[in-house]
Amino acid sequence: MSVITDLTRMWLTRSFKPFTFKNEYDKVLPFEDCDKLGLYIHIPFCKNICSFCPYCKVVYNEDLCNRYIDALIEEINIVGQSYKGEGKKTVTSLYFGGGTPALAKERIKEIIDEVEKYFVITEGIGLELHPDNVVPETLKVLKDAGVTKLSIGIQSFSEKFRKILGRSTVDIKSMTLALKEVPFETVSMDLIFALPTQTYEDLKSDIDTAISAGANHVAIYPFIDFTFTSSKVPVMNKKEKRKLLDAITNYCDSKGYERNSIWTFASEREAKYSSMTRENFLGFGCSATTLLRDQFKINTFAPEEYIKRIKERTLPTSLTIRFTKRQRMVYWLFWTAYSTSVDERDFEAFFGEKLNKMYGMELKIGRLLKFVTYKDGVYKMTLKGAFYYHYYENFYTLSYIDKMWGIMRKEAFPEEIKL
Ligand SMILES: C[S@@+](CC[C@H](N)C(=O)[O-])C[C@H]1O[C@@H](n2cnc3c(N)ncnc32)[C@H](O)[C@@H]1O
Ligand code: SF4
Repeated sequence: MSVITDLTRMWLTRSFKPFTFKNEYDKVLPFEDCDKLGLYIHIPFCKNICSFCPYCKVVYNEDLCNRYIDALIEEINIVGQSYKGEGKKTVTSLYFGGGTPALAKERIKEIIDEVEKYFVITEGIGLELHPDNVVPETLKVLKDAGVTKLSIGIQSFSEKFRKILGRSTVDIKSMTLALKEVPFETVSMDLIFALPTQTYEDLKSDIDTAISAGANHVAIYPFIDFTFTSSKVPVMNKKEKRKLLDAITNYCDSKGYERNSIWTFASEREAKYSSMTRENFLGFGCSATTLLRDQFKINTFAPEEYIKRIKERTLPTSLTIRFTKRQRMVYWLFWTAYSTSVDERDFEAFFGEKLNKMYGMELKIGRLLKFVTYKDGVYKMTLKGAFYYHYYENFYTLSYIDKMWGIMRKEAFPEEIKL
């Protein structure tokens, strides 16, 4: 598996150099010249831990959660105060992920207030919810705090698949009423596909239920079996997966939900929920990542170590990679392609180089294989291209993210990781 990702990396970066992450970091993050900067905040607490979930999280404990939020506010303060530009820095969006951020709902406003001391947010604030959090009281607290978008981790409305994943029952009726009573600009629902024996009918029914419960945005993630999770869910084969993905893409389209990223479908142009498709982002909290012009860094996964670093007014960075130019280009293309299209003018504005000059041959092959079409400077992914992107992304996740997170779950500050 890693042979495929290794060869692709060498080809696209035109180098044998691996991606090397080192235990070092900048004391002051160079984000003042970054345009289209997004913010991400990680809150790693859950009531119960799901066996299939790879994210950085621990079982909720009130004392730890409060000490963690105090540290989070301090981290925002350290980074915000280091801004060298004039006034406040403009950012596109702020997303809260986890874990289950609503477990700290009473403190979300305090965090947003701290962010707004240093940043002006232009495209709204998103927050991930567990279905149990979708009750009017919690939604009101979040809305009053300034949250404008929700992402609800449904996984499946069907009892059979929830059982496979070890998830509890979703009360669809009360969830629908709560979302009507306290409306949000974007309501996204996460579904998981490619579960054993799952058919097109099963998924169609999940999508229909999500839409009638009030979702104007649906995220359909392929199930990924991370090596370090304890889940025993078997993986679906490639042919079956492709058939399912093509069928659900066409179904969403027929319902007026257009694909607006590799995994997401939305009924309205403004309905967006993505903390990833950004040129640059600053991440706060355990496991949060930061992507700037020439570097990518990742915070420690260990809450107590995180708090300790912040108490010393030191950034909680665990590892940093300093990109070569080609590495940054590959990174840019990989994440921009999530939106299913790449505009050559954006590439040129970011790198000062023509996309065609840097990756002309690859794009020509992509067009010949009918992975992408080209019109007026924009490369658009086809249905076939989207499937292969999905497929490749799975390899990438298993050989890069799985390896890195597997190490970082055990070691707060590893010396070095080569990918
Ligand atoms: C941080 S999690 C969930 C938010 C919330 N804590 C919940 O459980 O509802 C974000 C999303 O990642 C997706 N996810 C988690 N583990 C996955 C896996 N092994 N494969 C594919 N998607 C996964 C799920 O759809 C989940 O809703
Ligand atoms: S899926 Fe959600 S609730 Fe389950 S462990 Fe992951 S973050 Fe926590």
